[in-house]
Amino acid sequence: MTTTTTLQPAAQTASRAPGRAGVEELVAAIREEVRRARDWGATAVGVADALQKRLPPPTFLTAAEREGSADRPAGHRLHVEPDGSFSLLAIVWRHDQWTRIHDHVTWCVFAGVQGEIVEDLFQLDVTSEALMPAGRRGCPAGAIRCDVPPGDIHRLGNRHSAPAITLHVYGTDVTRLGSSARRTYDLPIAR
Ligand SMILES: [Fe+2]
Repeated sequence: MTTTTTLQPAAQTASRAPGRAGVEELVAAIREEVRRARDWGATAVGVADALQKRLPPPTFLTAAEREGSADRPAGHRLHVEPDGSFSLLAIVWRHDQWTRIHDHVTWCVFAGVQGEIVEDLFQLDVTSEALMPAGRRGCPAGAIRCDVPPGDIHRLGNRHSAPAITLHVYGTDVTRLGSSARRTYDLPIAR
């Protein structure tokens, strides 16, 4: 069964869970990059570099959390910066769990921690009101991906039988907005 979600972290775990190995150090490194006050693209590259250097092992989640949820990709909010400048979430993806097709209100960076998810990219054809496939790229453990608006329409999902774990950084307070998504797209996909 395919399940999709718009990833709404507000209903998920506490804003700061103590004792998550490696997360505090990662948050400090992300904070340093975000405070450099550059444009979105440069900030995303800096945050991607911080993630690459300090990617924690999957054990920052408990064994139960790493199993995921039967209903949807399971989000775990790890940190929301008090000034609202960024949020850090983990997501556990079971087989064939997908986001809806969406874009974002701000820059985002994500990293594979366990298993592999894929990212399907799209472009909006305003004339035909259809989505044009613009590529698929895998995100295995250790890989880092950046998406910076505009031109950031995508969906993420797990095609594999084993659960996958990813870390996501968004340049906003996702609890205030309820999601990082600017818009979801239920348009036909051109073949
Ligand atoms: Fe996204």
